[in-house]
Amino acid sequence: LDHFLYRDGQLYAEDVPVAEIAATVGTPFYLYSTATLLRHFQLFDEALAWGPHLVCYAMKAASNQAILRTLAEAGAGMDVVSGGEYARAKAAGVPGERIVFSGVGKTREEIRMALEGGIRQFNVESEPEMRVISEVAVSLGVEAPITVRVNPDVDARTHAKIATGKSENKFGIPISRAREVYAEAAALPGLKVVGIDVHIGSQLTDLEPFALAYRKVAELTEVLRGDGHEITRLDLGGGLGIPYTRSNEAPPLPVEYGALIERELGHLGCEIEIEPGRLIAGNAGVLVSEVIYVKQGEGRDFLILDAAMNDLIRPAMYDAHHDIVPVVEPEAGAEQVPYDVVGPVCESGDTFARGRTMPTLSAGDRVVFRSAGAYGAVMSSEYNTRALTPEVMVKDDQFAVIRPRPSFDDMIKRDTLPEWL
Ligand code: LLP
Repeated sequence: LDHFLYRDGQLYAEDVPVAEIAATVGTPFYLYSTATLLRHFQLFDEALAWGPHLVCYAMKAASNQAILRTLAEAGAGMDVVSGGEYARAKAAGVPGERIVFSGVGKTREEIRMALEGGIRQFNVESEPEMRVISEVAVSLGVEAPITVRVNPDVDARTHAKIATGKSENKFGIPISRAREVYAEAAALPGLKVVGIDVHIGSQLTDLEPFALAYRKVAELTEVLRGDGHEITRLDLGGGLGIPYTRSNEAPPLPVEYGALIERELGHLGCEIEIEPGRLIAGNAGVLVSEVIYVKQGEGRDFLILDAAMNDLIRPAMYDAHHDIVPVVEPEAGAEQVPYDVVGPVCESGDTFARGRTMPTLSAGDRVVFRSAGAYGAVMSSEYNTRALTPEVMVKDDQFAVIRPRPSFDDMIKRDTLPEWL
């Protein structure tokens, strides 16, 4: 459920007509709904209400500080994967004790930064990394709370580029070696083992892989406790998928996911952490764009938009489907025609959809890409020296630009010429 609905023949974001924002801000831009963000966070929070828990939003999905602060004020923690994300979370007002640090290649500088600024835990991905965290903690005279991310060798049944829980993936340590690694962790100075971490992939539309992975985590918890480790926290990662089309079968709901966690892990008495990104931000954001031209090709019509692959790379990168709907509601029974929907960037990969049936559109008409809130703006670039896509947030009947469109000057001035030129 989201808050982008037609009302009086117009698409609204909460109580603001999208056309009104487009007229003020210009297209293309990302548009987020506060109510949808909060609703999705609350669904997870309620799904875990059976026990102690913290929902750590995976801010890689959409990291504008306005989004972070909105969620943090509702009680969310953050999952960060870089020093930049850590700094951004802190700048948005998230306290260190609500930040977990994931990622396979944390540098010494990033580790120091988090230890100095405060961190809930590092999710350790390898033994070399664990040794570096130990060294940095000792040098600062502090103790680093850690979990070890285990790779359960479970098939998440999702797109290969976003599956992370199989043994061939670079993530975590093989679960079969967990006992050795925890033994080393306990022996190293400056580390405090607090739990276990697992994350098997993104856009999972089936609960079974989660159940398989969590069952292995439950067994491992007992084994590690038997070895004398204090396992008080389980970080279960993110990954619950969202519906990208209205027609296909809806993925499981957070409440079903929460019940599964209780069933598989509830008996262990651990604090549960989850790291959802896509389900919180995905359907809370759209990309608004305008038709520049309709071009007749050989046996097809091209809808040439002012948004391109630099603004939304998911179709080019993962063959992802995003529903594209007009800002002006089509009349009931309006004629539907197939379009190849493309951007202005100079490569054929800059194609959002082929043969997509839509109501007839012409130059100047506006459309929105639905479900673009997660992995949209954060993956945008200035390819073709196109301005980084601005972001706008709506709350009830108000809207605000939360990242302005850079001017050509802003972009050009970032280059510095060497003195010999
Ligand atoms: N935790 C960890 C350790 C992760 O690596 C990820 C996502 C998440 C949590 C959040 O997963 P989510 O709940 O959003 O599924 N760019 C791709 C998705 C990459 C996901 C990377 N890791 C896309 O556009 O589909």
